[in-house]
Amino acid sequence: MLFVISIGGSVLARDLNPERFKKYASMLEELSQEHSIVVVTGGGVAARQYIETARQIGANEVTCDFIGIDVTRLNAQLLIAALGKNAYPEPPLNYKDAELALASGKIVVMGGVIPGQTTDMVSAVLAEYLRADMMVIATSVDGVYSSDPATDENARKFDVMTPKELLDVVISTEMKAGSKSPVDPLAAKMIERCNIDTIVMDGTQPEMISNVVRQECAKSKPVEGIKPGTRITTK
Ligand code: UTP
Repeated sequence: MLFVISIGGSVLARDLNPERFKKYASMLEELSQEHSIVVVTGGGVAARQYIETARQIGANEVTCDFIGIDVTRLNAQLLIAALGKNAYPEPPLNYKDAELALASGKIVVMGGVIPGQTTDMVSAVLAEYLRADMMVIATSVDGVYSSDPATDENARKFDVMTPKELLDVVISTEMKAGSKSPVDPLAAKMIERCNIDTIVMDGTQPEMISNVVRQECAKSKPVEGIKPGTRITTK
């Protein structure tokens, strides 16, 4: 099976801990023995800091995005370094190059592509383009909530939802000042268009990602203690 895995910078690159990169690399190596894997890395704290500094200097938002993209690619390069010979040696800079890189049989790791979006959008476009069997969004929250759990104590977590429901929830969450959804609206729209099953999950422990993927392949019931996140599907 082909999996596109979006690993948020907030989980992979919180503090540039080398051990963390190595742990995610081991998990991906294990998964790649049975599956094809494309990983999209986020920018995390470093991207936010660079962007904030650029903004204060007076850079426009597109310039800030380019800087963010560079940081996502640096995180991709760190993960590639941790994967060694198991990874395609460079982060592809666009979707077509990602397709060519995948043909090498190695794990493909890339960051952002163009301004005006996030790496979740990159993952969703890649999933559609490469005809992935599934997309995993590994982030710092454990699923999609009816509203932002950080600002609303009545927020309710979805176990399963349709792409249309995801889009509605994401748009209404993002409309509220200060609230943030785990999937950005553009990516939610793309998930609706490509209709590829997607799991939004807590990715802070790499083994949780491999457990969810394995569970998915075996179509087995959730193992106790494993939070499966939110499944977005029309099936
Ligand atoms: P992300 O927002 O995707 O990374 O990219 P993140 O901060 O790791 O995401 P979370 O919060 O953990 O989920 C960082 C920045 O890079 C730019 C945007 O400015 C984005 O905010 N970017 C990224 C682009 O402009 N285009 C891309 O294709 C990807």
